[in-house]
Amino acid sequence: MPFVFFDEVHKSFEGKEVLRGLTVLIRKKEMLVILGGSGSGKTVILKHIVGLLNPDRGRVYLEERPGDGFGEADWLEWRRQIGFLFQNGALFDSMTVLENVAFPLREHTRLSDREIRGRVREKLKLVGLESVEKMMPDKLSGGMRKRVALARAVILEPQAVLYDEPTTGLDPITCKWVTKLMRGVHEKLNVTSVVVTHNIQSALSIADRIAFLHRGRIRFLGTPAEIQASDDRIIQDFLKG
Ligand SMILES: Nc1ncnc2c1ncn2[C@@H]1O[C@H](COP(=O)(O)OP(=O)(O)OP(=O)(O)O)[C@@H](O)[C@H]1O
Ligand SMILES: [Mg+2]
Repeated sequence: MPFVFFDEVHKSFEGKEVLRGLTVLIRKKEMLVILGGSGSGKTVILKHIVGLLNPDRGRVYLEERPGDGFGEADWLEWRRQIGFLFQNGALFDSMTVLENVAFPLREHTRLSDREIRGRVREKLKLVGLESVEKMMPDKLSGGMRKRVALARAVILEPQAVLYDEPTTGLDPITCKWVTKLMRGVHEKLNVTSVVVTHNIQSALSIADRIAFLHRGRIRFLGTPAEIQASDDRIIQDFLKG
């Protein structure tokens, strides 16, 4: 069963074509990493998955249902099953870690404070954080903030997690740590994971499959070993950085 299928999707902004007939099938439960240069349309792809953008032409299918048939209520229901770690993973600075992670639970459930605390603790533990509930986000390191944002992204027990540039701005050690953590969360929660990044090392080390985005289309789709063995010049140049 596919998670999401992009069927010949075209998307332009101010006359500039960003997606040019993009076709890609994301399988359920896989960890797919989408690699591509800056401005290549990676964030645009994620936004189509959650209906924040719609194709100009072509279709996006969500578990085989065409997105153009979705109404606002369908999108809300769909999004509720998806955790999204945004590119600038903003936490609410005026709220404690506990309240940040609890936020979706307060919005979407009627759990008691006690139950909420329990769930928050469980998710913080999942991302390797303990005893930080009372802290304010500005007291945390960049890596810790990412982890709190990840705990918040998965607090509603999603079916899928989308990551937009999860390692940007982190030092190399923290970057490795966050990369491993994503794989750990993928397996422990048994979800579909879609990661967009230009971090090649991170992609090679965690992906089940890698999709390489180039000029608005997928130029290559395969396992990390397959992409490394590709004799496509453009791909090799990209992998060499
Ligand atoms: N809402 C929008 N309005 C106008 N242009 C947009 C919009 N969203 C994206 N674009 C343009 O589409 C192109 C692709 O943007 P996108 O953010 O998807 O790139 P990206 O691959 O995520 O890049 P980065 O690695 O820098 O995050 C860019 O040229 C961007 O300016
Ligand atoms: Mg982006």
